[in-house]
Amino acid sequence: MVDISVAISSLKLENPTLLASGILGISPKTFMRIKKSGAGGIVTKSIGLEPNDGYSAPTLVEVEGGYLNAMGLPNPGCEAFSEELREADWLDMPIIVSVFGSSPEELAKIVDSFEDTPCQAYELNLSCPHVSNVGVEVGSDPRSVYELTSAIKQKSKKPLFVKVTPMVPDVIEIAKAAEEAGADGITAVNTMKGMVIDLKIGRPILHNRVGGLSGPALKPVAIRCVYELYKSLNIPIIGCGGVTTWEDAIEFFMVGATAVQVGTAIASRDLILFQEIVDGIIKYLEEKGHDDLKGIIGIAHKR
Ligand SMILES: Cc1cc2nc3c(=O)[nH]c(=O)nc-3n(C[C@H](O)[C@H](O)[C@H](O)COP(=O)(O)O)c2cc1C
Repeated sequence: MVDISVAISSLKLENPTLLASGILGISPKTFMRIKKSGAGGIVTKSIGLEPNDGYSAPTLVEVEGGYLNAMGLPNPGCEAFSEELREADWLDMPIIVSVFGSSPEELAKIVDSFEDTPCQAYELNLSCPHVSNVGVEVGSDPRSVYELTSAIKQKSKKPLFVKVTPMVPDVIEIAKAAEEAGADGITAVNTMKGMVIDLKIGRPILHNRVGGLSGPALKPVAIRCVYELYKSLNIPIIGCGGVTTWEDAIEFFMVGATAVQVGTAIASRDLILFQEIVDGIIKYLEEKGHDDLKGIIGIAHKR
């Protein structure tokens, strides 16, 4: 019998698949449905200090190989969302709350509001490509990454994963800053900036003009980032970017990921995908004679 449970720091997952942030992860009512569909856990939509409506439509456009989105981090704010989670004390599943903020003080307040909720870990979103002051700008600067990561580590004992952008010359430098500040894992990666033009009007389709590219087109970039990070870090890596099939998940494990997140593929297909990916991973490990994922994590590094 193959065991595909994994531990990312002290967070235990029955299987190594997680719902990526921003995809269905806003209401506790949908969380159980996602878990029942086979996901090992959930990363919520990114939550900030104050409620935010996000950008005007169009916020999402399909492109070859995925989507371009510029939602503008819409969310109900930490007070309302933590209250909703507190009331959902029946939730018995790994919930990772994604947070964003522009200063250590702001992040400390946000995290404080989730400490007595069923939230089991945090993911710090330092990598949104279409918002000012809280996304890629801070996530590209190792010193800011260090300060913002430290702020959460000082406030909470729950595991903290830092989600990095692929849009930097040296992803290792950014992830190392997070590791040095006490991060318990790195999520690699968030989307990359892109643009699509409407030929009829000669203007960008997205209201925000620029959006983040996700889906299969992003996968080779994400695989390269996880590969580079695995060689340089001592903390686990969660792969994210274009996972659509169990083969994609295996590829992420081979370059060094301990778990994977699935976003665009869930949005464009169905929650059934989680079970398909999990079944595929188990079958693959059985056929190759492995008892667990340890047998394949990082094997792409061997020469
Ligand atoms: C519609 C949409 C909304 C997203 N919202 C967030 C978000 O709130 N926070 C975040 O960290 N990432 C967000 N992301 C990025 C995803 O979590 C993920 O990093 C990215 O889409 C790559 O994975 P995928 O190719 O499996 O979608 C969003 C992506 C999409 C498509």
